[in-house]
This record gives sequence, C-alpha cells and structure tokens, in this order.
Amino acid sequence: MRTFVLRARAAPTDSQKLLASVGTAAHTEILAHTLMNAIFVAQSHRANVVVYLVLESTQDFSRTIRFDVNAMHELSGFHEQALLGKVAKALDISKGMLKEASRPVETGVTVRTVSFERLMQELAEDHQLFVMDRNGTPICAQAFAGRPCFLLTDHIPMPKKTFHSLDRLGAKKITLGSKMLFASQCVVLIHHELDQR
Ligand SMILES: C[S@@+](CC[C@H](N)C(=O)[O-])C[C@H]1O[C@@H](n2cnc3c(N)ncnc32)[C@H](O)[C@@H]1O
Repeated sequence: MRTFVLRARAAPTDSQKLLASVGTAAHTEILAHTLMNAIFVAQSHRANVVVYLVLESTQDFSRTIRFDVNAMHELSGFHEQALLGKVAKALDISKGMLKEASRPVETGVTVRTVSFERLMQELAEDHQLFVMDRNGTPICAQAFAGRPCFLLTDHIPMPKKTFHSLDRLGAKKITLGSKMLFASQCVVLIHHELDQR
C-alpha cells in the first residue's frame, strides 16, 4: 500500500472558490495533478494507493479528503476538471460539518474535518512517514517496509513547527534530488522508485 498526503495550504474549502482558483495564486490545479499522478497510469489506474488531500484555506475547519483507489468505482476522468469536480463534490458534502466529523462522498471517497496535524498522528500509528524534502536522504538509499506514507505540500512550504512535530512522530526526510519539483512530479518519481523494488 502506498499513501500520499498533499497538504494544500492555499486550497479553499469552498467549492466555488476552489474551482475558480485554477491558475491563480492558490494554484488549485496542484490538487488535480497530484491526484492524477498518484492514481492513474495509461489506460488504467494503480491498485493499493490511498491519497489524502488536506485543504487548509478555510473559514472553519480544514477538509481532509481520502481517496482509496481499491474501493473507488467512479474513476472515469483523469483530466483536471474531472478530478477537481470530485474535490468540489466532497467540499459541498462537507458543508456544515462540525470539527473532526466524517461523511461519505462516493464509494472509496470520504471527507473529514480533521487537521493535517491530527491526520499525521493517526497515520503515524500504522504507517512509516516520509516528508519529501530536498535536504533528506536520497530515495534510492531509503528502505521501505509495510506502509510508507509520503508527505507533500502545494507551493507553500510546511511551517517550521510542523517539522518538529513530524520528527516526534518518527517521520524521515527523503530527497528526490536538488531540483525543486512539483508535488505531482514527486509522486511520479516515488512510484517509479517503488515500482523498481
Ligand atoms: C513545489 S514544492 C514546494 C515548494 C515550496 N515553496 C517549498 O519551499 O517547499 C512541492 C512539494 O514537493 C516537494 N519537493 C519538491 N522538490 C523535491 C525534491 N527534489 N525532493 C523531495 N521533495 C521535493 C516539496 O518538499 C514539497 O512538499
């Protein structure tokens, strides 16, 4: 099982704003690109992948949308509009939710009002956490056992204090080289590395 978490700090939790923010400073296209590269291969999709999108530009609570590919039935479109449509649907369904609540969106997709920090505490219980960072251990030198979980951000970096709490949860930093890549490009390289093993 491969798990990816995209912390989208600039992504609005209002569906209309999310859709209107493609190509603007919020760069919500990053969510679609990351989802696309995590889930799809040509003419098919990848099994055993879970993706969490954590949207943090909000008036109330962060929204954490979980996509479990093994359980998803509606995997028809891989273009930006289709994928952001799924995110927007989850956001609409999440309207009015109280803190740390959960609602089903469609088969294999769930939306929760949990923060990135809370999600990390939960995932740390049964996953090995890896923060993608240019100053980490080269991915080729890292051993992976069981359930690796890769943490990425949009164009806004993790706050410094997050690194300290991730450290306490046992997260390790991994690099994919010295070039700054898009989160979606990191996902492709991570899949490639794990595909080779
Ligand atoms: C566009 S980058 C984020 C840029 C952000 N301004 C920053 O300074 O972190 C998106 C995500 O990809 C990860 N990333 C980009 N290049 C990487 C690399 N060469 N190795 C590992 N992770 C990388 C970043 O750590 C981040 O989580």
